[in-house]
Amino acid sequence: MEYIPEMKDEVDSWQEVQLVYNSALKEVNTKLEILNDEFQHVHQYNPIEHIKARIKTSESIVKKLKKNGYETTIPNMVKYVNDIAGIRVICSFTSDIYRIAEMLINQSDLKVVSVKDYILNPKDSGYKSYHLIVTVPVFLSDRILDVKVEIQIRTVAMDFWASLEHKIHYKFEGNAPEHIKKELVECAMMVSDLDAKMLSLNEEIQSLKVD
Ligand code: GTP
Ligand code: MG
Repeated sequence: MEYIPEMKDEVDSWQEVQLVYNSALKEVNTKLEILNDEFQHVHQYNPIEHIKARIKTSESIVKKLKKNGYETTIPNMVKYVNDIAGIRVICSFTSDIYRIAEMLINQSDLKVVSVKDYILNPKDSGYKSYHLIVTVPVFLSDRILDVKVEIQIRTVAMDFWASLEHKIHYKFEGNAPEHIKKELVECAMMVSDLDAKMLSLNEEIQSLKVD
């Protein structure tokens, strides 16, 4: 059942929204932990370095609705804001990103709403990451809701780049000086080179047999 909040008292509705999205985050988090543990068991290494989860603040949700020309109602939040629940998965290697994404996509209870591969197609800013929007079923006492979660999967190096770029973007309100933008794009290329080198080094290490 698609999650459509009832129109009732605003405070009560907002608390319900938070409860529902928090539950969805817990579900996805557990799925990721299970995949990581199983991977450790089978391949003796952890593809996931760490996981960060957050619920978008009501201020950011309202800002996004206004930016996109929607009235600020709770049903509009749920309908039009896909990243109320967000989870970021940080991996060591680019290959881990695709492994994790594939394992998630293949889970029969998850429905994929959209996939954006900014690793194959980086943004003009230089941004790289793999984005999935899925719905996960949340079992409440009297109903099952399909709740949207945005999953961003990236390497440690991509995450390092994105957090600095985010700070700069925020500081200059999107109008950073040209030379800074240019240097950020150069850094993004260095990140790609580093990720490629670390991956091939790791593959070489894995292929060597140590007695
Ligand atoms: P938003 O309205 O920003 O959520 O973007 P969107 O709906 O077009 O989706 P997109 O997949 O482009 O971006 C989703 C999220 O990815 C953003 O909210 C950011 O967290 C992250 N992101 C996207 N582009 C950039 C970027 O250029 N730099 C950084 N640091 N993060 C980005
Ligand atoms: Mg966002």
